Amino acid sequence: MRKPLVMGNWKLNGTKDSVKALVTALLDSANKASPKADVAVCAPAVFIGMVENLAQGSSLKWGSEDCDIHTQGAYTGENSPVMLREFGCTYAIVGHSERRDYHKESSEYVAQKYKCAQENGLIPVLCVGESEKEFDEGKTMDVIREELKAVIDLCGIKSFEKAVIAYEPIWAIGTGKTATPEIAQKVHSDIRAYLASFDADVASKVQILYGGSCNAKTAPALFAQPDIDGGLVGGASLKAPDFSAIIEAAVANA
Ligand code: PGA
Repeated sequence: MRKPLVMGNWKLNGTKDSVKALVTALLDSANKASPKADVAVCAPAVFIGMVENLAQGSSLKWGSEDCDIHTQGAYTGENSPVMLREFGCTYAIVGHSERRDYHKESSEYVAQKYKCAQENGLIPVLCVGESEKEFDEGKTMDVIREELKAVIDLCGIKSFEKAVIAYEPIWAIGTGKTATPEIAQKVHSDIRAYLASFDADVASKVQILYGGSCNAKTAPALFAQPDIDGGLVGGASLKAPDFSAIIEAAVANA
């Protein structure tokens, strides 16, 4: 059985005060959920030390929204997986569509981030997903296979034993247009089938999260799908009551 995971992706949001209030309010939900579901927040790097201080000793895990392909050196502005581990991060999101798009990160580059994160003790959360045009043209799985293959080529299929996948249709991110549970389930099951063509055991065990306007309203039906193992949540993860309701939906379907 796969344990559900609900992960917040704060993106470029937060103040010292809001981070303190949000994390404090989530500790109870995360502790209550922990026998059945894991809960994590991925924060802007500048807030990670604060999250560590607030969440230490609780069941709430934390991570970064990105990481570099190097562990140290002359790479101005980057954050290394080694540094992120030092601040207690469990996860690093890699290949979010906002980074693939705005920062022109290729699938090969994302695979290097995944590798560096994993080699240095972080669990990479690999985001995959298609644009609206690609969805309309029926190219969803072509896009996703390419994104997954880059990682399989560099790190091998077994690397997914220590990774998480997040299916995030780009047309659903921040738009309020959640994929229907049926659409999402089909893609999740296609992802699992693709991975199973390399290794059935790995495919059956890897957590595949859904992301894209996942909120308190849409989460219950999404999480009821057999191949959806939780959510990667943007906007709705910034409000403690909304995020807690999503956590409860994961617990109810565990
Ligand atoms: P959203 O973002 O929940 O605000 O749509 C999800 C994400 O981009 O991870």
